[in-house]
Amino acid sequence: MKISSTLKFLCKWIAHPMSTGAVCPSSRFLARKMVCGVGGRREGGVVVELGAGTGAVTKYLIEAGFDKNSSLYCVEFDQGLSDTLRRDFPTARVATDSAENIRKIVGDDLPKVYAIVSSLPLLSLPGDMVARILSEVESALPVGGRFVQYTYNLRRNPDSIGFNKMRHIGVSKVYLNIPPARVDVFEKI
Ligand SMILES: C[S@@+](CC[C@H](N)C(=O)[O-])C[C@H]1O[C@@H](n2cnc3c(N)ncnc32)[C@H](O)[C@@H]1O
Repeated sequence: MKISSTLKFLCKWIAHPMSTGAVCPSSRFLARKMVCGVGGRREGGVVVELGAGTGAVTKYLIEAGFDKNSSLYCVEFDQGLSDTLRRDFPTARVATDSAENIRKIVGDDLPKVYAIVSSLPLLSLPGDMVARILSEVESALPVGGRFVQYTYNLRRNPDSIGFNKMRHIGVSKVYLNIPPARVDVFEKI
């Protein structure tokens, strides 16, 4: 974890604790677990990352080749963080926008979307915003498409997230993260 990323993140957390949702960036252990949740790269497909922040997960998505042929979209609504993502990851398509607008952001690439990876702090964002994001995720994914989300609530019942058209297919705990986290994987039905 780079000191500059950690400092930047801490500053964002002090300014906007509810929308930042974490005091420091995801560890590499958590990031790798998120990437595993996608279940492999599909040629010609598109993956969308929500709440990309400092790029801690983006880095491993790119390392695994998910950016090939401009097939990785990163959505981050903080202007400063998204500018840094654009600079650090020129092969990713970074949108300074809200996760409520996934379909607008990917545009004509919508039929290619097969997975969405989210670092959004769903437990601390406003309820109406979360409802719009979950509905957008369900609309953007095809049947069988995956949604990968982490939370710091290790005991959270995945059904409580509020999806209508997604089933829970896997969970992993990651203790080597501050704080420890769990990664849940859902599949569109
Ligand atoms: C937990 S942090 C990011 C974690 C990231 N994996 C990292 O390590 O840097 C969540 C991020 O989601 C962003 N965010 C919150 N609400 C959002 C929304 N509605 N749309 C897009 N990004 C959002 C915040 O600005 C923040 O950067």
